[in-house]
Amino acid sequence: MGVWEYDEPLEQLGSPVTGLAKASPAPSRRDLRPRLVPPQLSGTLSDRGHSVLSSQGIEPFLIRTMLPDEAAECEMVMRSLPGWFGIEESIQQYRRDLEIMETYVVETGGHIVGFMALNQHNQYSAEIHVMGVLEEFHRRGMGRSLVAHAVDVLHERSIEYLQVKTLGPSRESEAYAGTRRFYKAMGFRPLEETNLWGEGNPCLIMVRHLGCLPRGQITSA
Ligand SMILES: CC(C)(COP(=O)(O)OP(=O)(O)OC[C@H]1O[C@@H](n2cnc3c(N)ncnc32)[C@H](O)[C@@H]1OP(=O)(O)O)[C@@H](O)C(=O)NCCC(=O)NCCS
Repeated sequence: MGVWEYDEPLEQLGSPVTGLAKASPAPSRRDLRPRLVPPQLSGTLSDRGHSVLSSQGIEPFLIRTMLPDEAAECEMVMRSLPGWFGIEESIQQYRRDLEIMETYVVETGGHIVGFMALNQHNQYSAEIHVMGVLEEFHRRGMGRSLVAHAVDVLHERSIEYLQVKTLGPSRESEAYAGTRRFYKAMGFRPLEETNLWGEGNPCLIMVRHLGCLPRGQITSA
């Protein structure tokens, strides 16, 4: 088996998110009105419920749990990104997946502009199953906030590894090169490129270590 050299330069890790939005498991519609919470006043996940991330010059946005009737809006986000979500069958499968998985959305101005579905595989590891942000909102920190929210939630459950699968560099795609750069900037590292998705669709598994066991501690299986 050949060893390939990773094709993109390692970027600096992104700066930590401050005032990160948090979500309670199932907020009601009435609770969804953005509430600005200065970072210094923010408490724990449960007492804060959810809050707004506000960056200089950027409209505040909220990261919260997707409501059951909002999958269609997430589907629209996917459909607006044909460079990434171009296969009808996959869009429909993802739509079904986010209805049953743990899905978080980015809301701004009363609209859903991004989403992320998390899949916890076992007590040690979880996966970002799918995520997307409307292109006009790219590079405003929404993707970073979604990942940071996932990390926060998973830390609370002592999950150690977070993985993501994306198109590997052996198939040329400018769109997915950007996606891989995003994941690298979020602390994910390329583990392996596999043919899990079949020939012509190289699947790159990327992983981020979320935490360490105390030195010398070994847990039973
Ligand atoms: C991947 C995606 C969710 C990132 O969302 P985003 O809101 O644009 O990301 P952020 O603004 O939080 O980016 C955080 C950092 O990641 C890096 N980054 C993000 N997109 C990048 C790109 N295209 N090229 C290089 N670096 C990138 C940057 O370091 C960025 O920080 P900076 O803007 O301060 O330089 C978004 O690009 C997207 O929806 N892509 C299409 C769908 C997709 O690829 N989904 C994942 C596969 S399922």
